[in-house]
Amino acid sequence: MSTNATNTLTAAICYERRGKIGLISINNPPINAISAAVREGLISALTRAKADKVSSVLIYCMGKTFIAGADITEFGKPQTGPTLPEVISAIEEFPVPVIAALHGNALGGGLEIAMAAHYRCAAQNTKLGLPEVTLGLVPGSGGTQRLPRLIGVEKALAMISSGKAISADEALQCGLIDQIIAASLPESGIAYAKELIDNGAKVRPTSALIASPVDEHFFENKKNSLKPTGILAPAYILELIELATKTDIHEGQRVERERFLECRSSAGSAALRHIFLAERACTKLPDIAPSVTPRPINKVAVIGAGTMGGGIAMCFASAGFPVTLIETAQENLNRGLDQIEANYNQSVKRGRLSQDQLAKAISNIKPSLQYADIADADLVIEATFENMDVKKAVFSKLVEVCKPNCILATNTSYLDVNTIADVTGRPQDVIGAHFFSPANIMKLLEVVRTQKTAPEVVMSVMVIAKRIGKVAVAVGVCHGFVGNRMFKAYARQAQLLLLEGCTPAQVDTVIQTWGMAMGPLAVGDLAGIDISYRSRRDQGICSGSIAEFALPDLLVEMGRLGQKSGSGYYNYEPETRARKNDQSVHDLIQSIANQWCITRREISNDEIIDRLSLALINEGAHILDEGIAARPSDIDVVYVNGYGFPRWRGGPMYLADKIGLDKVVRKLEILREQTGDTCWEPAKLLHKLAATSQTLSSLNN
Ligand code: COA
Repeated sequence: MSTNATNTLTAAICYERRGKIGLISINNPPINAISAAVREGLISALTRAKADKVSSVLIYCMGKTFIAGADITEFGKPQTGPTLPEVISAIEEFPVPVIAALHGNALGGGLEIAMAAHYRCAAQNTKLGLPEVTLGLVPGSGGTQRLPRLIGVEKALAMISSGKAISADEALQCGLIDQIIAASLPESGIAYAKELIDNGAKVRPTSALIASPVDEHFFENKKNSLKPTGILAPAYILELIELATKTDIHEGQRVERERFLECRSSAGSAALRHIFLAERACTKLPDIAPSVTPRPINKVAVIGAGTMGGGIAMCFASAGFPVTLIETAQENLNRGLDQIEANYNQSVKRGRLSQDQLAKAISNIKPSLQYADIADADLVIEATFENMDVKKAVFSKLVEVCKPNCILATNTSYLDVNTIADVTGRPQDVIGAHFFSPANIMKLLEVVRTQKTAPEVVMSVMVIAKRIGKVAVAVGVCHGFVGNRMFKAYARQAQLLLLEGCTPAQVDTVIQTWGMAMGPLAVGDLAGIDISYRSRRDQGICSGSIAEFALPDLLVEMGRLGQKSGSGYYNYEPETRARKNDQSVHDLIQSIANQWCITRREISNDEIIDRLSLALINEGAHILDEGIAARPSDIDVVYVNGYGFPRWRGGPMYLADKIGLDKVVRKLEILREQTGDTCWEPAKLLHKLAATSQTLSSLNN
């Protein structure tokens, strides 16, 4: 077979003729996103292949992956070069078979390119999907029209509306790919192309297929079961897939493109793209050089087998790490292990885990009552009772047994990690690893750096967080760090709103309808109102001494601790946990308001939303002023991943920019004037940025 020299057509595309095959390779690291250079290069390469009169064309990618999607950093900028639909048409209409050879991720526009090819082969490791909905988009280059034609309406709808990728095996089974090939690209792809041509394969446009018809009520039922959300895409996806069953591909693609462009310029999609990039940006720490090498972590220990400790142990065990779980008494250890097993069984029931994976994960957890058993751990996470003396005692013990360089982490939610570090004599190894409950489910991890934590220790925890599937955000030390400190300001407003005239259900329903996963009072009941009650007593705050804590103080003292005791701000049905309003709580609120001389009034939904969101925004700005968070988008990541803030609103700091900082400052000043409450004094940063017409996002780097 004769070989022509490789030609670089654009920075991202090379073309080469190997015998009768035109080889088009894409090289646009890190994920081979479809940038303008990729689109232009593909068109030029196809033109070259046509001129070369090749008998087939193979498209493949260099590096770790096939194309994983459009370049979302180009969105919102003027379009240059050909559009992706133009490239897709050029592929599908090519006169000889075009074969796509996939590996890594074939996502979004990458899968759309592959579906326009006449044949698809993929290495075993390939994941194939159309994740656009997670960015508030519909696939914009034929995805909604070709996928149902290839794999049927129901499966296509499941893939496009969930955004979830499938494996190469599943893709082969459902007809999305034709062959699984060896990972040795391009050779394995070339061999497949030759085999096809030798067998007389012809062009096979996907657009010529017919999307199998479905039951006449199928789409109507799906439309009726759509949950309300702040993004347009889910309803459009249904409409477009239905269209694929009714019209030719040209009409389907025309409408799809229209919907795609509408989604792309929508506020919800812009917010989702912001948070996607923010979740990647927060892994980079401005003051730590990328050359800093993390310490290797192979063995983990968790101190405390309570709810948090057990959940943390599960995170590591599920990711394949051997975990030693330490308790002080056999009884506590047994209870913790039972809970872990029950949680894993729950995951198996929900189909998130196989029996095999369950057995493997449980076998990774080694229970122990001896600190000596953690002498070889590389990372220890303390998850004991939230009390400084208890933590100090644990860390004093840890330094006696742990090897040098072992990272000593605390899961404290509020306490000063500097003070904990001071008892160790090796503060450079000490760090906060603040998991959120339930730790095995919640994505967020606040990585709390003290003044003395070594940079490589910070990097080690950031890296390990990714390996256990967490979104890690580095934060500084202050009471409650980023998330809980802001939540305190937010929850305080919820309490004041109650005293000033709202019911718990009004506050919760309004903010939940606005998009929060749960309202603040329902969250209190879920977490247990007694936790903050105890924390206030630990801080020396007397029960009933502060108006906004009077209600939760009384509820706890009445034994109404929240869901766990069957009542809190609400009453709960024992079986279903369904919540019900309780007139006696409303009466209690009225009597506390009387006692504090607060005249209750009707409060509008807008006021509830304003006060709750502005409390978050202003506290977030103070946090930025103090350098506790590195950038505004880090705070957004914390709120979206740890506190149920609606992803499609982008996070509280993104929201502040959308409202407009001058308007935010004005609203805060009005509240300050109306209430006399210093909490509404606008943070200096907000004043500064508003005065110079800058945005918080200008501080993201
Ligand atoms: N456009 C532009 N940049 C992208 C991108 C996209 N579609 N997808 C990922 N990137 C960038 C990330 O921002 C990151 O940049 P950085 O190194 O400067 O931080 C880099 O590529 C690596 O991404 P990351 O997510 O950290 O890598 P990963 O290996 O964990 O995951 C993917 C890879 C492809 C699974 C993941 O990036 C992903 O899901 N991407 C989006 C896919 C998508 O939605 N496509 C449809 C777009 S319309």
